[in-house]
Amino acid sequence: VQAAVIVVAAGSGSRLGRPEPKAFAPLAGRPMLSHALDGILALAEPVHLIVVAPAAELEQARAIVAASAGPALGYTSVVAGGATRQQSVAAGLAAVAPGVGTVLVHDAARALTPTALFAAVIAAVRRTGAAVIPALPVVDTIKRVDAAGAVQETVDRSELAAVQTPQGFVRAELDEAYADPAADFTDDAALLASFGHTVGTVAGDERAFKITTPWDLARAERLLAETAS
Ligand code: C5P
Repeated sequence: VQAAVIVVAAGSGSRLGRPEPKAFAPLAGRPMLSHALDGILALAEPVHLIVVAPAAELEQARAIVAASAGPALGYTSVVAGGATRQQSVAAGLAAVAPGVGTVLVHDAARALTPTALFAAVIAAVRRTGAAVIPALPVVDTIKRVDAAGAVQETVDRSELAAVQTPQGFVRAELDEAYADPAADFTDDAALLASFGHTVGTVAGDERAFKITTPWDLARAERLLAETAS
């Protein structure tokens, strides 16, 4: 296989208010992780799928992977994550098969991400030879506020983008950055940028929203119900 997709699913997701780790919370009767894999495994191209799960959930993660199907299902791995998202990605990256040149990193919490977005990111990494992330324009007016909540300034939103996953990378660049990370970043594109690498964008997709709160989960349930009817 020439591409790998690392799905990070090792977060606790405390803001969701569920007892199980977020990726294992039920969404329309199946764990969120199971929905996240649907979008990936429908890719026409076979990929090395790597699921990064909490150490206590490895068996369940393996069962979810085993129950998944699709044209892209080839080589799969399930590994234990770390204390931060970046540590979880590092664990997944260590498992990527030799020969893979393009690596995507995806949040399991973006469970409804369409297959077309994975395909677009893979194609853009290959076309540009650089990192590529999905981005959407910011629709809200954004303010910088102080610790007391007082508004300091309005940020020019035309210069801002809301970014999503899957984020796509040239494997050698990602390996280099993860060998010696400068800090703990909230996404891999920030780590790559800290090494001076170019990061490009492709159009994001609203369905790739991150399920964080109970409201997001309810929205995902409604979207799935609409597509089913
Ligand atoms: O917490 P947040 O929603 O930003 O997490 C984004 C993604 O990173 C989630 O899919 C979550 O499972 C994953 N994550 C992880 N390991 C951590 C923290 C977060 O795999 N230690």
